Amino acid sequence: MTLPFKKICIVGLGYIGLPTAAVFAGRKLQVIGLDVNKSAVDTINRGEIHITEPDLDIVVRAVVDEGYLRATDTPEAAEAFLIAVPTPFRSEGDDAHVPDLSYIKAASEAIAPVLEKGNLVILESTSPVGATEQMADWLAALRPDLTFPQSHGDTSDIRIAHCPERVLPGHVLRELVENDRIIGGMTPKCSERATALYKMVVDGNCIVTTPRTAEMAKLTENSFRDVNIAFANELSVICDKLGIDVWELISLANRHPRVSILRPGPGVGGHCIAVDPWFIVSKTPQDAKIIRAAREINDAKPGWVLDAIDREIEAHLIKNPQCKAEDVTLACYGIAFKPDIDDLRESPALNIVRDLCDKLPGKILVVEPNVTELPPSLSRGQLVDVDQATAMADIHVLLVGHKDFRTHAGLRAADPLDICGALEI
Ligand SMILES: NC(=O)c1ccc[n+]([C@@H]2O[C@H](COP(=O)([O-])OP(=O)(O)OC[C@H]3O[C@@H](n4cnc5c(N)ncnc54)[C@H](O)[C@@H]3O)[C@@H](O)[C@H]2O)c1
Repeated sequence: MTLPFKKICIVGLGYIGLPTAAVFAGRKLQVIGLDVNKSAVDTINRGEIHITEPDLDIVVRAVVDEGYLRATDTPEAAEAFLIAVPTPFRSEGDDAHVPDLSYIKAASEAIAPVLEKGNLVILESTSPVGATEQMADWLAALRPDLTFPQSHGDTSDIRIAHCPERVLPGHVLRELVENDRIIGGMTPKCSERATALYKMVVDGNCIVTTPRTAEMAKLTENSFRDVNIAFANELSVICDKLGIDVWELISLANRHPRVSILRPGPGVGGHCIAVDPWFIVSKTPQDAKIIRAAREINDAKPGWVLDAIDREIEAHLIKNPQCKAEDVTLACYGIAFKPDIDDLRESPALNIVRDLCDKLPGKILVVEPNVTELPPSLSRGQLVDVDQATAMADIHVLLVGHKDFRTHAGLRAADPLDICGALEI
């Protein structure tokens, strides 16, 4: 059987690009990984990895040793290019959340010189609506000798599609194969070619739509999560004002057969849910009212948590008049952006503890079972285990519901300020 593709290039070898490259290389395709980070390129070519993802080290070592994956910082020809570069937002004037497409533009400029008739270019990066068409325009301007779908439809030399990635960190290798895939081809032939590529590795369904719908689908998924988390966070603030236990309230409301309220927490972190909704707001600022409000509610939650901790410290000082603020030892449980991972990127819990380190004079104990050292921003904190923290601290704040915390009798006995409801399960 002839394979639809023999050589592909993954542009951007991070949390998405490297596992994607490894999975395709595992099916014995020649995979070139293109990245501007020379140290990542060298690490991968040694058969090692520079990111944390279960089992990825084993797969990368195998495909590099067998010669199916090679990383480089110099673009070279391939039959398909999958772009998985960052898409953050940046500030512009009064607008603090403008989508930053500069990485996609740089990736387009890198591959344009090596594009050949018949190539497929897929944008995998999470993108605002219209980004795939923008990328197609950048490529067309750089290669006037080739034809593109926006001007030549199904007869174009180059096929272009947007196929967003929705894998869960920690389960990426499995989900890359099992998840359904949205295929947003610019024309039917573009979708056909992209489907043929993904079908080489994906067991899930490949569902064809337009690039704009594919872009919006990914943004919608994360905005849906953000809005639902904001609802829970707003309830926690309202209940605090009204003297109601929010955990009891949610468990009662969730007994309704069609109600399923999420749990409040310290805010929303990571690099997807806290970012992607802004891409919708940026395109339709007058209309994306709930989506914007959800972002604002979730971004305000760490400030509310800091106020709640201040109140705990005040109450402790009133109860112990001999005690001064510098005598108070505070223990914070969890700094990752969600339970049971070591990822601290954009973590609201981390930001809360950083602010506490900046403003409180007393000792700050940090419990984070998933890391072996504290980041530099917490240099004033002391990394300890749960037993030490429960024995040493005067005030306990439970920020992230790691499994080690949920079942810890000593922590329960310490009666912490439970921001994430970890002890309410
Ligand atoms: N991490 C996730 O869980 C996740 C899930 C779904 C979607 N996404 C989306 O996937 C995209 C990539 O995210 P990530 O987490 O893999 O990012 P990342 O920061 O881990 O990796 C991006 C890589 O791209 C490289 N890069 C930057 N500019 C480049 C260029 N011009 N040419 C070649 N390489 C370049 C960087 O050096 C880096 O290695 C983003 O749009 C993100 O929103 C991420």
